[in-house]
Parts: sequence; structure tokens; C-alpha cells
Amino acid sequence: MKYNFTESACRKDTNAEKYRLRKELFGTEDVLPVWVADMDIDTPDFVLNAVKKRLEHPIVGYEEFPKSAFESQIEWMKNEHGIEFELEDMLYSHSVVASMSLAIEAFSKAGDKVIVQTPVYPPFFHSVMEHDRELLKNPLKQNADGKYVFDIEDLKSKIDDKTKLLLLCSPHNPVGRVWSQGELEEILQVCLKHNIVVFSDEIHSDLAYSPNKHIPFASLSPDARDITVTAIGVGKTFNMAGFAMSSVAIPNKELREKFLKSYKRVHFAQGSVLSHAAFESAYKNGKEWLEDLKSHLWNNYQMLLEVCEKYGDKIKVTPIEATYLAWLDCRGMGINNRELRKFFIEEAMLGLNAGLSFGREGDGFMRLNFALSTQKMLEVIKRLDKALSLKYHK
Ligand SMILES: Cc1ncc(COP(=O)(O)O)c(C=O)c1O
Repeated sequence: MKYNFTESACRKDTNAEKYRLRKELFGTEDVLPVWVADMDIDTPDFVLNAVKKRLEHPIVGYEEFPKSAFESQIEWMKNEHGIEFELEDMLYSHSVVASMSLAIEAFSKAGDKVIVQTPVYPPFFHSVMEHDRELLKNPLKQNADGKYVFDIEDLKSKIDDKTKLLLLCSPHNPVGRVWSQGELEEILQVCLKHNIVVFSDEIHSDLAYSPNKHIPFASLSPDARDITVTAIGVGKTFNMAGFAMSSVAIPNKELREKFLKSYKRVHFAQGSVLSHAAFESAYKNGKEWLEDLKSHLWNNYQMLLEVCEKYGDKIKVTPIEATYLAWLDCRGMGINNRELRKFFIEEAMLGLNAGLSFGREGDGFMRLNFALSTQKMLEVIKRLDKALSLKYHK
């Protein structure tokens, strides 16, 4: 491997959300934070250097989003995910969640229904409710082997004339699925039949582990392309969420114009000039770094599997196909959610996300972010192992 992820910079005394809010959320600063979905891994040099270079020019005024930046993203999407977007399809957005809100506003009205497949990243359902739309919950099902799948029959039985939009999380946070072609096509058929627009949040698309291959929803067919708003970001892939930079691809002109109405109303403008430079450099130079990063993340995941397997069925790690977020099924521990939280904070001294924050289906689960340098990961494993061994006398 060319890149080395053994150590990473200390973020303790910075404003890093995951560190700064420890006391507020966990009641102590002693926990190692493994909650917010960013990485305790240094942002790559080719991103930081591009920003430094931009600052060599002494004026940081208004700047148009560079065409070359979108071109680098379009090229990346073609090479990595086999989808071809045009320049005119692309819009800047500072955040995927903000794009989701704009899509809700653009493609539905108060009282309409928006489909959300729980358990899911909380802003999916918060955004729907904050816009006074009705949440149409189509929970994922779990197979006997623990694999999460869509519940198409449930979806079909709940859709009515008021259902306007489906918020797809692909790959899925927190269950780590990379949806297969067949699964996505089933969703597509339902949406086409009922004129439902699909907002496909593909922010984790670059983090699929081989042999799993992310399939952009819009790439399924020309019909799919026509009903899809794809949200993509560099934030997760290259650990640069702090640049607040993502994009939206809307090939269908009619949908794009509807979306633009909401977009212009909030004056999204062009974003930050430093993000422009960072974004372009990430896509132009990031391929090798990303491959090395994924090998590293996979090793971390194996370490986590190993320590959990040592204690039998107490904590089952949901098999992961993408993302650096492990969805831990802790129901085998036989304790309630309050006790579970207490176990992780007070005994393991780790700050995880509570499963319930992803919806009712997260009862008995916790989410652990394993995107850490090897050093930090070893500390997480040590703490978890010690707490489990004390509890189960192993
Ligand atoms: C599925 C998903 N979408 C969106 C986001 C946030 O994206 P942004 O910071 O661009 O709003 C996250 C962050 O964890 C996420 O997991």
C-alpha cells in the first residue's frame, strides 16, 4: 500500500463535532467517539495541498463553481460507477441533507407522503416531518441470516395517490447494504407505476467493498434516469465533510427546473472557493488513496468482527457491503437500550450512536464508526474486549 493509515492527527482540542459534543451526549469526555460519520484518518494531502495552492492567490472573492470541478466528478462517476452525467445535469449543494430537503419541497406539498426505509440515517425522516409531509415508513426486512432487504409487498400495500417521493439510501446507512440490480429494479417498477420521484442519496457509493459494486439508481434504465435526483458527495469518500461540498445530478429537465425553483429561493449560490479546489483535486487524484483506504477499513472491520465473535451471539455485527459504519445487533446481550448505552459509555468507554435514533427498528442495536487509524482502532478493540470480558467472564 502506498498510503499509511497507522496514525492520525489528534482532534481532541479542535471543534470536531464528534469530540466536542462528548460531554453533552455521553456525560463524559473519557469516551472514544465512534459516532459521527467522518473518519479519524487524515484528509489526503492532495486535497489539502489544492487548498493551500488556491490561497496563494490573495483574493478570495466570489467565484463561479469551476466547470473543471464538475468535469472531474463526471469522469469519476463514469469510471467508478458506470454512469454518464452531463455538465448541465449537475448542481452544487453544500450538503446532501440540504439537497434532500429541497427535493422534498420541490416534488411534494404539505400533506403528501414521502417513503423512507427504516432503520435509516435520521435526517431522512426528520426532513420529511419538518416539511409537514407524511412519513410513509417502509421498514427494511431482515432475512434469517441477518441480511437486510427491501419489503416490496409492504411498499406496494402502503402507496396511494398522495405518495410523491421515495428517499433511497444507497448504499444504506446504517445497515451497510449495497443494493443489487434486481432489488433496485423492483423499487424502480413501483416508482414508475405510481409516478414517484426517487431521491437517491449515494454519498457512500465510493465505499463499497469488493466484490460488491454500487449501482447508481439513475443507471438502471432511461426511465430510471428520468425520475431520479442523485445526491453525491466527496465528504465521506475523502474525509472532507468540513468542506461542506456535494452535488446533485438531475438529468430530467422538468425535474431539474422544479428543483431549481426551491434551490434559487434559498440562494445556494456557488459554495466556497476553498471547497472548489478541494473537490476537484479529490476526484482527480483520489483513486489510489481510496483503494488503500478501503483495504485499511476492511482490516478494521475484521478486527471488530473478531472481537465480537469471541463472545458468541452477544453482539452480532451485521454483514457489511459498504460504508465504515457497523450496525451492531446487541439483542443477544439481553439488556434494554438504556443499559446498552450505559454499557458502552461506562464500561467500554466508547461513544456510539444509539440504534433507536435510526428509527424504531434500531431497538437493541448500536452503530459503531470504524473509520479510524490503526492506533485508534486497536484502542477501541481493547476497550470493547475488556468490557465484554468483564461482563461475560471470558
Ligand atoms: C446517508 C447519508 N446522507 C447524508 C449524510 C450527510 O451528508 P451532508 O453532510 O452532505 O449533508 C450522511 C452523513 O453521515 C449520510 O450517512
